[in-house]
Amino acid sequence: MRKQIAAANWKMNLTLTEGIQLAEDILKNEFDLNKSRAVLMAVPFPYLISIQQLLKGQANIHVCAQNCASTKNGAYTGEVSAEMLNSIGVHYVLIGHSERREYYHEDNALLAAKVNLALANEVVPVFCCGEPLAVREAETQNAFVENQLKESIFHLSADQMKGFIIAYEPIWAIGTGKTASSDQAQELHAHIRSVIAAQYGAEVAESVTILYGGSVKAANAADIFGKPDVDGGLVGGASLIASEFSTIIKSLK
Ligand code: PGA
Repeated sequence: MRKQIAAANWKMNLTLTEGIQLAEDILKNEFDLNKSRAVLMAVPFPYLISIQQLLKGQANIHVCAQNCASTKNGAYTGEVSAEMLNSIGVHYVLIGHSERREYYHEDNALLAAKVNLALANEVVPVFCCGEPLAVREAETQNAFVENQLKESIFHLSADQMKGFIIAYEPIWAIGTGKTASSDQAQELHAHIRSVIAAQYGAEVAESVTILYGGSVKAANAADIFGKPDVDGGLVGGASLIASEFSTIIKSLK
């Protein structure tokens, strides 16, 4: 089975003390994680090492960065490179979250550069895509997301695409309490998988993990994750509450 993942995205929330408390509270639960189920915790840069220490010895629970630079190294004040993440043992990174696209003007070409740098430095990208409300209302979301994939990840080789992680997050559902219905999620996920199949073949497409993001919570996770092309979730708000995120982890297929 392809990997099922529950990914927490803390965004710019919590102090270090609060973050450690949250992670500790989550770890009090028993999770049935195995080779095909994993948990990611995308925490702010300054907390990566502390949370990583706390997760030591936890099989299949990993820290994840929320971003990395689009350039290799050099005079880029305030940036954090994929190489730096690798050097501290961080092997996952969110790339192209809609908040990065919207507030920091990250476009598809820049995100392609980030994906390349992450892969070159043995950091696994969690590539985020998804349409804004106007696109959904115009019913052109399939073409919109397809273009995001084409321009940012379809230059990768089939080998690189094998087991790749994508997070589909309709922007109108992020932090709004408005979740896409599980059927809407399934429809778009199936479309993403078919586009990957057309480009790379069915075997590669079947191996790609596609997470759903946008107001996932304990109450709707099992329904959404139960859909055949939904392989888990990327969770913002509800990942800040230990009981919520723990239930979400337990809702993985
Ligand atoms: P949300 O955020 O769960 O708060 O909607 C999801 C995300 O932005 O990754």
